[in-house]
Parts: sequence; structure tokens; C-alpha cells
Amino acid sequence: MNQFSHITADRLPDLLRRMPKAELHIHIEGSLEPELIFALAQRNGVVLPYASIEDLRAAYAFTDLQSFLDIYYAGASVLLKAQDFFDMAMAYFQRAAADNVVHAELFFDPQTHTDRGVPFDTVIRGLSRACEAAKREHGISASLILCFLRHLSEEAAFTVLDQALPYRDHFIGVGLDSSERGHPPEKFSRVFARCRELGLRVVAHAGEEGPPAYIWSALIELKVQRIDHGVRCLEDAALVARLVQDGMPLTVCPLSNVKLCVVPQMAAHPLPAMLDAGLCVTVNSDDPAYFGGYINQNFLATFAALPQLTAAHAHRLASNSIDASFICASEKQRHLDALNAVFAAA
Ligand code: ADE
Ligand code: ZN
Repeated sequence: MNQFSHITADRLPDLLRRMPKAELHIHIEGSLEPELIFALAQRNGVVLPYASIEDLRAAYAFTDLQSFLDIYYAGASVLLKAQDFFDMAMAYFQRAAADNVVHAELFFDPQTHTDRGVPFDTVIRGLSRACEAAKREHGISASLILCFLRHLSEEAAFTVLDQALPYRDHFIGVGLDSSERGHPPEKFSRVFARCRELGLRVVAHAGEEGPPAYIWSALIELKVQRIDHGVRCLEDAALVARLVQDGMPLTVCPLSNVKLCVVPQMAAHPLPAMLDAGLCVTVNSDDPAYFGGYINQNFLATFAALPQLTAAHAHRLASNSIDASFICASEKQRHLDALNAVFAAA
């Protein structure tokens, strides 16, 4: 028995949709829908290697992380102007508002753009303007986390950090993404140390495809404040104990894990085991335009496939997302009060 045990399974989908939540793991370039990719390609005179929207969508049959990243970077090639970045982020915020996201921390990959000759200023101007508009138009607070591409060198990460520092007020932290295998977190120890000295928040993808050792390295070498994905932690009992002891948040992305074959099917997803272990788990969308849905779809698909998940789990996942965010204590309390009100009325 718990305080939510009167909420029956048939009422869960509505509750999952309505509960206020924070999204902590969304690559904004991964929110580019095929329709917008084609519209921006036309607007910017970019020729795509796909004849139609349907052709592009048909290519979304991924076998692993790299097979996805190849298409994801190709999709981002249509982004050239600040207005393109703004339009992409506003399309995301509209969907996030419909899903009752009250706060979002957006990853962006500047090297994907600067390496094509798009100035850092263009990227950050468009995204920053969208974060301000999200508050005005949707009441969503939003901030940006700059991700270093781990398949590139640490020297390249230092270069993008230098480009970013004049815009220090426009992003709250740094992350680490792209091809995980063969690129362990410790490759970026020095640049993360510098970022910590600068007072930036630090997070890293680890334990998505990579082994538990990469999660240890993100904790010990990079001293991260959240682990992105982290689902493979369950292979190492000592690691789980450490993550639980530290209350370390894990930003899990269930539809992504299925689409990238990290798990064979949703019914086999480790989310219930992670919750049972006492881990601070959150549910997020990762790259929603590519993986079949935004944050509410992640909640709905997960709870539909895993009937052991209850209203108490839903509440915990939503409250974890608010707690694990980088907003101030009073804002957290305001969102937790709103969350509790929704559950009290259910
Ligand atoms: N970049 C965008 N999505 C990613 C993911 N799921 N893992 C690593 N890098 C990414
Ligand atoms: Zn990710």
C-alpha cells in the first residue's frame, strides 16, 4: 500500500500525460522532424540525399547508436541561420508544453554546426532566443547544456569551449555525447576540470552502449552531476550501490533504448529494476523526432509495456525529474507542489 494505491491502472495514461515534469535529456537537434528538415532544406537551398519525407523516415531503422548518429548529423545539415535554430527549438517547446513539461534542459552540439562553417554565435543566438520565448509563450523555463562530441578530440572540445565562453550567460553546463564505444569519459578529463572551475554544471552520457566502467569514469574522472542513460549500471552491483548512495540522477530514455537496440523490446526495459534498486531515475525523450515520440510517449509506452509500474512510480519519476534539474530550490518546490496537487486530485 502507498498513498497512490487507489489510482487504478486504467487512470494511469491520463495521469502520465497531465503530471508536470522536467525534461533533462533532449538533444535539440534530435527534435528536428522530417517535415521541418525538408522545409529548412528548401528555405536554405540544401540538397538532401533523400527524395521525400517518406524516404527519410524510412531510413529511421537503426541497428545501434552509430547507425542513428550518421542520419542525425545529416539531418542537422539544414540548420544554417539563427532563425533555423529558433524554429527548431520552438517546435520542440510547443510539443513539450502539450506534454506538461514545466522545465527543460536542452543539449546542443555546437561542433556539428561550427565544423560546417556555421558560427557559434548563430547557434547560440537562435537557441537562446527560443528559450526566452518558451517562458513567454508557454510558461516553460529552459536552459542550454553544451555537449562536446566525444568522437572528436579533447583539443577540439577546448576550442569549442573557447568559442562559447563569450556567451557564458547563455548556457548552464556541459555534457558529453556522440559515439560512446571507444571514447571513454576520461578522454575529456582536462576539459571537464576546466568547466568545473568555470562553475559550469557537468553531465555526461555513459552506460548507454558503453560498459559500467564508463559510468565509473564519468563519476570519478569527470565528477558529473548527472549520468545520461546509465542503463548498463545494473551489470555492476558496486556501481549501483554507489549511484544510490550519491543520489546520482540517471536520465533514462526508454524509446531511444528500444530504437537503438540497447534493449530488445520495451517489455525488457530495466526501468522497473532501476526504480526497485533505489536509483534516482528520470524518463526523457533523447531524440524524439527519430525515436517515435516525445516525453509523454516515453512514459505511455513504458507504462503500457511494464504493468508492474504504478502511480507511485509515475509520481517518483516526475518528482525525480524536478529534483534532478538545475533550477533553484524555490522553483523546484513550486513544481513539486503542482505535481502533488495533480496526484491529490486523481
Ligand atoms: N547524440 C544524440 N543522441 C545521442 C545519444 N542517444 N547518445 C549519444 N549521443 C547522442
Ligand atoms: Zn542522449
